[in-house]
Amino acid sequence: MLFLVKKSLLTILAFILLASVAQADDKLPDPQIEGGIGIFSALKLRASASGADFPTGDLSTEELSAILWAASGLNRGNTGWTVPMSKGTEPYCRIYVAGSKGVSLYDWRDHSLRTVSGDDIRARVGAQGFVRNAPIILIIVSDSEILAQFKNDAYIKELAHVLTGAMTQDIYLAAANYGIGARYIHSMNHDEIIEALTLPPGDAPICLMMLGK
Ligand SMILES: Cc1cc2nc3c(=O)[nH]c(=O)nc-3n(C[C@H](O)[C@H](O)[C@H](O)COP(=O)(O)O)c2cc1C
Repeated sequence: MLFLVKKSLLTILAFILLASVAQADDKLPDPQIEGGIGIFSALKLRASASGADFPTGDLSTEELSAILWAASGLNRGNTGWTVPMSKGTEPYCRIYVAGSKGVSLYDWRDHSLRTVSGDDIRARVGAQGFVRNAPIILIIVSDSEILAQFKNDAYIKELAHVLTGAMTQDIYLAAANYGIGARYIHSMNHDEIIEALTLPPGDAPICLMMLGK
């Protein structure tokens, strides 16, 4: 009997441990937002890096931190973000970060990355062959749960696309500040992304952003 209780306790402990590893939170360093080249210099430099000759050098954690913060980080208190949302709600698009070591989800609440999978999915997500060469691919996905408060389907789609436009322009500008190559990609393998990220029904991939140095 004692043996059985011990065995059950060990099984529960192993389960809790596994669950916590799957949901591991990696706090990102505070974004480096002082100094830099200035917004107008960044605007002057903003451009898409060549897809075919995309830079293959990895980003530092600090650079990734700054880019994710620029894309949808909190910039004033707990309800103010770098990008505008209709009715001032929380961001209704999520950012997944795909790299050689797996996929994480950006959590703007505590500026952290939550592990989603240990698989390298970069070769699966883009319809163009060169996309896989990017050291980091950001995958922007609409969040149907948050968008459900808006009633009209067409409007919901517009909201997600408008927000994606703001997020990706912020990504381009932050990338320009750090001399990082960036490219917006619309040609995606939707079904592969949905499967790889186990997206709930209603959540839709909107675009990819290739990043590399
Ligand atoms: C909505 C949108 C969709 C795009 N889709 C792709 C794409 O699927 N593949 C690609 O290689 N580039 C894509 N791009 C990048 C554009 O080709 C690029 O932004 C354009 O050539 C202008 O270059 P610039 O960003 O340097 O000004 C896309 C850009 C936008 C804004």
